[in-house]
Amino acid sequence: MSAMFTIASDHGGLDLKAAVKEFLGKLGIECRDLGTFNNDSVDYPDFGEKVAREVSEGRVEKGILVCGTGIGMSIVANKFPGVRAALINDEFTARMSKEHNDANIIVLGGRVLTPEIACRMVEIWLSSEFEGGRHQKRLDKIREIEKELFKS
Ligand code: RB5
Repeated sequence: MSAMFTIASDHGGLDLKAAVKEFLGKLGIECRDLGTFNNDSVDYPDFGEKVAREVSEGRVEKGILVCGTGIGMSIVANKFPGVRAALINDEFTARMSKEHNDANIIVLGGRVLTPEIACRMVEIWLSSEFEGGRHQKRLDKIREIEKELFKS
């Protein structure tokens, strides 16, 4: 695996992405940035795809996506088989995204969250553990749906 994480945003998530990257750097976590790299208006599917494809194909373990609300990036990322992208908004949803959903991508709203709460949520997601058990059974059902839809 080339990097444990990839991260990407559109213009609406650019500033929050920078704050999250800086935070991860302080934790010593390598995070490969797949863009966007300036404030020019771009289309979130182009950047959501980059991270979601890498996670879906197993080239990275985890990803973080940021757009204005987090909604567009969530819609894109969850099109990819094996991706469990969670749009998280507070400490509770950050913890649940891992404990119950084993989210391999978290999605943040750059126009919704402060950098402080976003970094705190990233920290919670990273330090939480998937509970398995009944939750694994539910993830297995999602996998079965994907298999049936994509015949993979
Ligand atoms: C871009 O203006 C905005 O639509 C995008 O960042 C995101 O919020 C979409 O869901």
